[in-house]
Amino acid sequence: MAEPVIIDCDPGHDDALALLLAVGDPRLRLLGVTTVAGNQTLDKTTRNAQKILALAGAHDVPVAAGADRPLVNELTVAADIHGESGLDGPDLDVPVPVPVGVHAVELLRKLITEAESPVTLIALGPLTNVALLLRTFPEVTANLRRIVFMGGSTTRGNSTPYGEFNMVTDPEAADIVLRAPIPLTMIGLNVTHLALATDEIIAELRAISPICAELMTFFADAYRRNFGFPHPPLHDPVAVAYVLDQTIVPTVRAPISVELTGVYTRGATVVDLHHRTGRPDNADVAVDLDVNAFWTVLLNAIRQNPIGNPA
Ligand code: BDR
Ligand code: CA
Repeated sequence: MAEPVIIDCDPGHDDALALLLAVGDPRLRLLGVTTVAGNQTLDKTTRNAQKILALAGAHDVPVAAGADRPLVNELTVAADIHGESGLDGPDLDVPVPVPVGVHAVELLRKLITEAESPVTLIALGPLTNVALLLRTFPEVTANLRRIVFMGGSTTRGNSTPYGEFNMVTDPEAADIVLRAPIPLTMIGLNVTHLALATDEIIAELRAISPICAELMTFFADAYRRNFGFPHPPLHDPVAVAYVLDQTIVPTVRAPISVELTGVYTRGATVVDLHHRTGRPDNADVAVDLDVNAFWTVLLNAIRQNPIGNPA
């Protein structure tokens, strides 16, 4: 039976491909999508999620907008990486419906509590909505199988030398989630930096979906400009790939905390891989990636979507 999942996201180029993976792979049943401010402002991330779902033919997946800023920080968007629209590159002039008329936290509560079997929540942006959900409706944990989030790193960061974007954007939300009484998996930069969209991958993608190839071409330029990466890392789909096949993303148990007060390190995840601190384990931490298996599932899923079958 397909695993029921909900995606909370801030599209974003890599979020977009993560949505396509979740829609296209038969092992997952996407119950709903919630959006958060992060890569761009909330109105833009919401519209982007709706456009991608429309292009994927997923018209019956409800979308609800959530937090328009982090819990404490001011919002700093990633226009340098994702452009002014949040999904710069191709012309995505697709009509979209109005989002459902409830806040993301309410849609999450409803979908989780009404699901027939425990739900996996996949968080691909700052953890603001997820933290608000856990604080507002703690009873959802009874029917939440696990939270798998893309964020953090066991090594270095991307927003700051040691801080990853989703964690740095809302460290207090990350702190709330990391203390939650629920199975957690962290998919950090240490593994997503192995998911590089090489020229060969982008060429394969172009044959399947010109829109996806254009998204990746913009993303590749941004990564070259900002980080000197020869190829862009496709962070968020790795979290979805983990949910549908855990052998693709091996993990270890470890204690994770997020730095809230560091002068230079606020938002950095502190992952005690060698158990030196005596803190209890609170998460599974991704430590590797089966790169070939990852691209196989992602490209196959995109082939299943109307976005992957251009006329
Ligand atoms: C994360 O930050 C965002 O820019 C991406 O969408 C991804 O979720 C990578 O640090
Ligand atoms: Ca994201």
